[in-house]
Amino acid sequence: MSGIRKMFDAAPPDAVNLGLGEPDFNPPEMVKEALFQAVREGFNKYGPTRGIIPLRDTIARIYEERYGPASRDNVMISVGGSEALAVAALTLYEAGDEVLVPNPGFVLYAQHARMADARPVFYSLKESNAFLPDFDEIESKITRRTTALVVNSPSNPTGTVFPRKVVDRLVKLALDHDLTIISDEVYDQIQYLSEPYTSFWGRLDKVIVVNSFSKIFAMTGWRLGYMLGEKEFLTEADKIHYHLVACAPTPPQIAALKGLQDGAADVAAMVREFRHRRDFIVKYLRSIPGMHCVPPTGAFYAFPSFDWDMTDVEAAHGLLQRGLLCTPGSAFGSLGKGHLRFSFANSRENIGRAMTILSEFAHDLQ
Ligand SMILES: Cc1ncc(COP(=O)(O)O)c(C=O)c1O
Repeated sequence: MSGIRKMFDAAPPDAVNLGLGEPDFNPPEMVKEALFQAVREGFNKYGPTRGIIPLRDTIARIYEERYGPASRDNVMISVGGSEALAVAALTLYEAGDEVLVPNPGFVLYAQHARMADARPVFYSLKESNAFLPDFDEIESKITRRTTALVVNSPSNPTGTVFPRKVVDRLVKLALDHDLTIISDEVYDQIQYLSEPYTSFWGRLDKVIVVNSFSKIFAMTGWRLGYMLGEKEFLTEADKIHYHLVACAPTPPQIAALKGLQDGAADVAAMVREFRHRRDFIVKYLRSIPGMHCVPPTGAFYAFPSFDWDMTDVEAAHGLLQRGLLCTPGSAFGSLGKGHLRFSFANSRENIGRAMTILSEFAHDLQ
């Protein structure tokens, strides 16, 4: 990743940035107001280790309405989804355990396994299979030491959402082999399938769901997320969480609660805009010579492959020199090679500029 950071740092100042992993929106007005008010009214101290009760209750109610029984005892508020993922790993994994993680996949899963002296075992998400998991392959990689299966739908970087039947198969697989599923659902509200989103919550006892306010309320810098799990698991997770961070920040919790109560229209407007951009970028990417793009069904990433005679890092460098920033697919694992990740967390105008640069680049290669 440090190579990519260097590449980003070398970007010309007027480059179009389609490398972003965060919405280009601001938090909804009422969420910002709630934050200001919380600060003004003096909610600036440490809060309860697990998070403020009204927020935990509200999250539990939402999950119960949508997916399955939940109470505040199943909810822990964290410092972003990132901390929840780390806490899940440090609580669950023992030295020598094996953990199934996606390739390509979000960069933290394998590193968290290593931090807990466990071993990441990669399962593939191939373009030829619309970036969906191959159940036989996963099954063939399960050993006596396999503890957990990490899943991420909608996915970063592929933008793929698991339809219900895929979730069903993965749940069955976890039950058959007594695995815990760690489901990273931070993009759950940003999806373009016609069927409702399928969470792993409520599907099996041994499940940990990680979610975040970073993306839905465009508040990545406020560092607030959460974890749902079995009550007994959370009692243990709590200790790790306490020793890492003591508690999540207090004012953003009050603001996120307001967002859950009154922010639905703002979230819907943001998702509608992402959907427009997705349609636009997919149409464009599919017209680029040598590029192939599976339309993303969630999040705000397109992950096309290309058959140009160069690596993804070289392609990303070439595009950067022409003023377009994107992320080489290999940053997300060996199976990301030959792909580029374009984030559409940028204005339609900038995406248009980016696609012109990409198109000229591809034509010049021919
Ligand atoms: C798949 C995925 N999970 C988790 C996170 C962590 O987000 P945060 O810690 O801001 O909640 C990200 C951020 O980009 C992500 O893409």
